[in-house]
Amino acid sequence: MGSFEFLENQLKELINADLLRQPITIDSPQRPVVTVDGVEKVLFCSNNYLNLASDRRIVDSVKATVEKYGFGSAASRLITGTMTHHKQLEEQFASFFKKQSALFFPSGWTANEAVLTAIPQSNDIILLDKLDHASIIDAAKASKAAFRTFRGDDLSKLERLLALPDHDRKFIVTESVFSMDGNCADLKRLVELKNKYDAILIVDEAHAVGCMGDTGAGLAQALGLTDQIDIIIAPLGKAFAANGAVVASEKTVTDYLINKARPFIYTTSPSPATCSAALTALDIVRTEPARRQKLQENTNYLHDKFNKIGLNTLNSTTHIIPVVIGDAKTAVDISKQLFDKDLIVLAIRPPTVARGTSRLRISVQSDHTMAQLDALANTLEDICKTAMV
Ligand SMILES: Cc1ncc(COP(=O)(O)O)c(C=O)c1O
Repeated sequence: MGSFEFLENQLKELINADLLRQPITIDSPQRPVVTVDGVEKVLFCSNNYLNLASDRRIVDSVKATVEKYGFGSAASRLITGTMTHHKQLEEQFASFFKKQSALFFPSGWTANEAVLTAIPQSNDIILLDKLDHASIIDAAKASKAAFRTFRGDDLSKLERLLALPDHDRKFIVTESVFSMDGNCADLKRLVELKNKYDAILIVDEAHAVGCMGDTGAGLAQALGLTDQIDIIIAPLGKAFAANGAVVASEKTVTDYLINKARPFIYTTSPSPATCSAALTALDIVRTEPARRQKLQENTNYLHDKFNKIGLNTLNSTTHIIPVVIGDAKTAVDISKQLFDKDLIVLAIRPPTVARGTSRLRISVQSDHTMAQLDALANTLEDICKTAMV
């Protein structure tokens, strides 16, 4: 028997540095109030922004699909795992994003992996915002192309990289709303730069889709830029509260991914029930803008409260509100104290965020009540005063 002592030693190092991660277990449906070990707690770190995770219409559509089609798709998409549900989902999301075509992947992780490992070629370069999600960074590392990073709040380095004559094609990849900082990418300027330097712009709308834009198509829609984005990546595990991700673009891109993207080709296709959940969520997202308005109201309310208290929320303007604490231990301590007061806010620590910027990542939901938002702000104020943050 081999020994796993080498892993144990690394885990001990994590414990000593207050960096060990352990999931808590939720034993109720996902909604603003959940139960943990039978105790009700208000959830402030879920991506269930529009509170669709336990929506009755989604549950009913999933039940109906399972009754009629069973659960498993039992094959990869190119064998016999493509069912009418996948086609329907792809058609509807292509039209939602006003693109020629869309392709459905089992997760946002595999969508980013597929796009960046298949499309950029060996003489190309991928330019990543430093705040981009791990799935984008790892995909760029695995790609045949070179990659460099730039700062989204100072695009001069990006422009210098774009001006270099060394590569055949340049791909700019950004999130629209950054998952750990809650700030928005400067999509308008990125579009200007991509046009000036003839680059390809890829935008991951994971935290904006459903939440922003007239019909919920994301930040690009809110800014009137959808037609300028070459490839939109829309993970559906967050506001859509389903699973999987859509890649929306030109038909050539879809056809190429179908033929060349290994994370698409060599994996079991998502269950038709997952497609039904996403399609029902799409109907709700399109037709119930009041959810987005309520999310925005709650967001503004909490930002105001935090500003008055003097918390450091970086440049967030959105429903993702980081409260920067600094060291990992204090962040974990504050998270534990909030938990004891029945408020769930997790501490985000390195390597997810830079050393010295450990934070509480608060995410707002459309159905949080004012009383719940007040409870969070007041409790956090008391705890931070005592912890001298
Ligand atoms: C910006 C971004 N892209 C991609 C992903 C991955 O999506 P999924 O959870 O569907 O794999 C996430 C979230 O985890 C994310 O925040």
